[in-house]
Formats: sequence, structure tokens, C-alpha cells
Amino acid sequence: MRSKILLVVGARPNFMKIAPILRELDERSWAHSVLLHTGQHYDADMSQTFFEDLGIREPDIHLGVGSGPHGWQTGQILTQIEEVLSDGAWDLVVVVGDVNSTLAATLAAAKLNIPVAHVEAGLRSGDRAMPEEVNRVVTDTLAALCLTPSRDGDSNLLAEGVPRERIHFVGNVMIDTLVRSLEQVRAAPRPFPALEPGKYALVTLHRPSNVDERGQLQEIVDALEEIAGDVRVVFPVHPRTAQALDAFGIEFQRVQALEPLGYRHMLALQADAGLILTDSGGIQEESTVLGVPCLTLRDSTERPITVDEGTNTLVPVRSKKAILEAFGRSWGHGASGRTPEGWDGRASVRVVDAFESFLGHRRA
Ligand code: UD1
Repeated sequence: MRSKILLVVGARPNFMKIAPILRELDERSWAHSVLLHTGQHYDADMSQTFFEDLGIREPDIHLGVGSGPHGWQTGQILTQIEEVLSDGAWDLVVVVGDVNSTLAATLAAAKLNIPVAHVEAGLRSGDRAMPEEVNRVVTDTLAALCLTPSRDGDSNLLAEGVPRERIHFVGNVMIDTLVRSLEQVRAAPRPFPALEPGKYALVTLHRPSNVDERGQLQEIVDALEEIAGDVRVVFPVHPRTAQALDAFGIEFQRVQALEPLGYRHMLALQADAGLILTDSGGIQEESTVLGVPCLTLRDSTERPITVDEGTNTLVPVRSKKAILEAFGRSWGHGASGRTPEGWDGRASVRVVDAFESFLGHRRA
């Protein structure tokens, strides 16, 4: 009998994680996969473009939930996924990452006693003021399978009392997508020919702690504007950040602002950047594998391996002065680092192997 598996995505960083898992499930005759999109992200350039770039099939179920406060958004998704799961015999629910859709799907499944597999389990920033940290802790507590991208994830889970047998180190599925896409990106014409490789800084910014408060956002923008006096600075602007800039009346003079980019164009820009400034989780990992220096504008990271082994440096004080100093120390100095264990383009095979043994199947 085939196993019926619900895979849940909702927000931009979910799509590159689910793509290789879906592809691998298609290879296994025991698996019947159903793809559900919650609609947490809905703009074409935050969602549809990624489906096209990554070759993800149309979702089987689309909830169209949209934006709203955390409780409302999580509640909407929870209620609707509960309905989906109540109808039919589900063997497993697969969630990825740490967004509200991840948490809501986990809660819905756990209450119906359907096992959850969490891909990217065990990451901890230690900062419960971050909504993602709350999502991670609750998801990992309830998941039957905690699939970790790095060994620190295993240690974090064990320290929280998660039983050893639930924890499986699989490596980083997002890097499967990067490895698969990089060759195509390298072979295609550069999307922004005017940007000389190695000669520009790339910026992304969307964390509430950086963009929701006027004074903090202004400090960062002031630093970027000053950097842009010497070096080209390109900044694809997330919708949350665009709204904040607009509401605070902050405008760029020198920084080159862009609309959000699709996966391939973003990967091309990252691969050729001289340096990246970001507060994203995924970009800390991608820059490590690409060997591009990364300054992470946050107090803490749930991905310490990118600092210990990769090319990442935390900039916990986000004043104009501190950012400029960090930039001055990194720009033009290259990066040394190594690719962490299991970030090898084969993590999705190990993920699906873990599903296979959990569900009691053998590969045909
Ligand atoms: C969410 C995730 C965050 C992730 C980020 C990546 C949570 C708690 N946060 O943050 O972990 O790093 O996605 O992008 O799940 N908006 C649009 N169009 C869209 C989506 C959002 O305009 O397609 C605007 C809306 O005004 C919305 C705001 O952006 O209120 C924030 O969206 P939301 O999904 O709540 O959080 P993100 O900041 O995107």
C-alpha cells in the first residue's frame, strides 16, 4: 500500500526546501505525495516565480490564507489544514523551516495524531523574541521525525529532551536546490550585466527587529547609503521592508533598490557578490556554500555553523558605525570557510530514506 504524505509550504523560504524532497518522493513507488500551499506568501514574485524557477508542480491544495497578525494567520492555517487532514487517511505530514505555516500544520497534525516530519529541525537562535524561534521549538517538540541540517541541531534537541530515536541528521536540503541550480545559473546570461562580479554588495533585510522600528531601519539605511558612496549596493526589497520604508518616508539616494527576485536571479546575484549583508536565515547558508563573505545583521543566529565553519560574521550591534566597521573589515578580504557536513546536494535522498524507514517501506 502506498503511503499518503502531505507536504506543506507557505512562505518564500519553504519552496527551495520542498522542491528536492518532492522530486525524490516521485522516485519512490511507495509514496503518494500531496502538496499544500497555505498562501502565507501570495505575491507572484514571493511565490509563483519560485514554483516556476524550481520546477515545483502546481499545489494540489491552495488555502489562500494571506497576511495577518500571527495568531490570526496561524489560526486560519490550523483550522483549514485540520479540515484537510480530517478527510482521508494520512500517514505523514512534512513541514520545513520555521514559518507560521510550519507551526500551524504541525499543530493540526499533532492534534489528529498524524506523525509530523520536520525538515530543518533543531536550529536555535536562543532568542524567543523571534517568532521563528517559537515556531521551531513547538514544531520540534511535536514532530515524530526531527531531520537536522547540522550536528548542532542534534545537540540542541537532545538538550531539550527530544528522544534520540526521533532525531536524524540529514544535512541541508536547501543546498540540494543550490547545487542543482548553480550550473544552469552559471550557464545563463548574467541577469544584471552592469554589475561586475566581485564589485558589488548585495543586501537583503526583512526581520521585524530590523525593519519594523524607524530608528533601527534608518541606522541601517544610513550605513548602506554611505557604503554605496564607494561600492555599488543592490537591494531586492522584501514587501515587509518596502511597506516600512514607505511608512517612515525613508528613501534611497545611492543604494539600488530592486523588486524581490526569483530564485535563479537571486542565486546569480549572490554567487557574484563581493559581499552580502543580510538578516535572512537561508542566505547565511547559501553564502557559506558559495564562498561569499556574509555580514548578518542580527543579535544571534540559529545557524552558528555558518560562522564557525562558513563565511558568516554576526553584526549584533546594528548602528551605522558598527555596520560600517564590519563592512570595512570584510570588504575586499575574500572569505575562507568550508562547506559543512551533509551540505552536499544529497540531503533530500537522506530525508526520504528517513521517511521510508519510519513508514516501514523498502525501496523497490
Ligand atoms: C515570513 C516568515 C519569516 C521568513 C520570511 C521570508 C513567519 C513568522 N515569518 O516573514 O520567517 O523569513 O517570511 O520572506 O512566518 N507581504 C506581501 N506579499 C506577500 C507576503 C507578504 O506584501 O506575498 C507583506 C504583507 O504586508 C505582510 C508582510 O509582508 O503583512 C509580512 O509577511 P509575513 O508572511 O507575515 O511575514 P514575513 O515578514 O514575510
